[in-house]
Amino acid sequence: MRALNHILVTGGAGFIGANFIRYLFQKTDFSGKIVNLDKLTYAGNPENLTDIDEAWGGKRYFFEKADICDFDAVSEILKRHEIDTLVHFAAESHVDRSIYGPGEFVSTNIQGTFTLLEAVRAFWKDRQDVLFHHVSTDEVYGSLGDEGFFFEDTPYDPRSPYSASKASSDHLVMAYWHTYGIPVTLSNCSNNYGPYQFPEKLIPLMILNIKDGKPLPVYGDGRNIRDWLFVDDHNSAVWTILKGGRPGETYNVGGENEWENIRLVHTLCEKTAATLGRDPEACKGLITYVKDRPGHDRRYAINCDKIKGELGWRQTVSFETGLDTTIAWYLANTAWIDRVRSGAYRQWIDRNYGAR
Ligand code: NAD
Ligand code: TYD
Repeated sequence: MRALNHILVTGGAGFIGANFIRYLFQKTDFSGKIVNLDKLTYAGNPENLTDIDEAWGGKRYFFEKADICDFDAVSEILKRHEIDTLVHFAAESHVDRSIYGPGEFVSTNIQGTFTLLEAVRAFWKDRQDVLFHHVSTDEVYGSLGDEGFFFEDTPYDPRSPYSASKASSDHLVMAYWHTYGIPVTLSNCSNNYGPYQFPEKLIPLMILNIKDGKPLPVYGDGRNIRDWLFVDDHNSAVWTILKGGRPGETYNVGGENEWENIRLVHTLCEKTAATLGRDPEACKGLITYVKDRPGHDRRYAINCDKIKGELGWRQTVSFETGLDTTIAWYLANTAWIDRVRSGAYRQWIDRNYGAR
């Protein structure tokens, strides 16, 4: 029987992690405590959980500013909060950044995951009621042609420094199961979208550029394909695995929702223009084809029959509803956008939470 009572969420101030914490408090029967361990890089924003902190701070919700590469800090937090479950979201997550500066990806994604594994190995010893859940990406499987899908046993073939660092961390996690018997589970998920995503990723970047009348940069011929999943559906999959996933197993999670980038950008133009009362064709006129991303994977498509069949997970948010929710959120939350993009706000975080 799994303890599942004191959960440490790494990267809980980022996009998926913050939505995961809110999901647990608002949409599940979880009644224990959550500790959010985050270094607050450019992508981490404590403001993403202000409502949760106001409702549960100091009672069932705790924030700890720390680096997952810091063994002593992680070990002290595990001990002080008597952690029995670790959900590992913290990572450098943007492919473009990994091309221009791979070092941070190697450090956080590989060394950081290794450090967490070492810390739980020392703290949990041979307990079997604990769980280390590692959140990973479908990008570890490489690139598909026109046909076929990624399965859990598809050989790893990462192409970017980001996906290579995630692949490496996946292997370390599985090695700790096989070698030391640490109970682990792993999920490899397709592209997420939704509120609180840093506006460097395709969907929020396009919505905001449409709003601001700026060029919409489409890489290459725009015909690369991604499989999109609303962030709450990813988080319900993680919660499902925490409750019932078998130790040592990988579960693929996806939207079964493939879109060519250019078709998605057209849809975002139409939907955002309709909300703003603008001419959709004028918005499409902002599309600018730019030089392709080096090593740009052509197509991702996930087969998620395993988590559906074994654990009964399902996607619940249609792309139509998910996009409408996301567009409405980015158009309404201009103060959040200005702050995550502003250098002054980063300085405020450093003053209040300590410089990195
Ligand atoms: P994000 O970039 O929005 O957030 C990452 C968080 O990790 C931030 O809060 C950041 O401050 C924190 N962090 C970074 N380095 C840290 C360190 N050294 N120590 C402690 N905290 C640190 O990322 P995201 O999109 O929310 O992705 C979360 C996880 O999900 C990642 O592991 C990513 O690989 C995986 N994933 C993402 C997607 C996607 O579409 N975004 C899809 C599949 C899997
Ligand atoms: P992104 O959101 O960066 O996610 P990932 O690279 O992890 O899949 O990009 C999604 C797709 O959109 C990818 O094929 C690259 C493309 N893209 C653009 O065409 N223009 C952009 O400005 C961005 C950020 C991405």
